[in-house]
Amino acid sequence: MALLPILRYPDPRLHKIAQPVQAVDARVRALIDDMFETMYEAKGIGLAATQVDVHERLIVIDVSEERDQRLVLINPELVWASDERLKGEEGCLSVPGIYDGVERAAAVRVRALDERGKAREIAAEELLAVCIQHEMDHLVGKVFVEYLSPLKQGRIKTKLLKAEREDFRAATRAQERL
Ligand code: NI
Repeated sequence: MALLPILRYPDPRLHKIAQPVQAVDARVRALIDDMFETMYEAKGIGLAATQVDVHERLIVIDVSEERDQRLVLINPELVWASDERLKGEEGCLSVPGIYDGVERAAAVRVRALDERGKAREIAAEELLAVCIQHEMDHLVGKVFVEYLSPLKQGRIKTKLLKAEREDFRAATRAQERL
């Protein structure tokens, strides 16, 4: 198992369109384990392969308090979404420190393969429904901040680029001290 680097908005690779997973084999299962390890370490509830720069239709999720309910969605397809909407506060491991309200379907049904390659249909509501929609957006290159106003998106970009430059400078200074 290994921790994977998570791409940060506004990295253009976050806007790539993921391709279907061709076979649920040992490579994919190893990637799934690495993605769960990375997600748990970062204290996230969902992670799409896009966020670790792998452009395949694969998502890992765990919305449980105990962090022991792994959900794997491979090649997920939305089968149904409720007309009822809800607006929840969202965050994203690729947009650290930013939270804002996004309106989503309150309930969805999704068809996907699990980590054994078995087809499943998952009915989800509330937090899990929101999480599935947020992660499926990543697979088509969409980050949640794109639902916000252009003004807010601009502010978020500026803030994250500045944070990235500061991280880089801190890393450079740390090297100079060695
Ligand atoms: Ni996200």
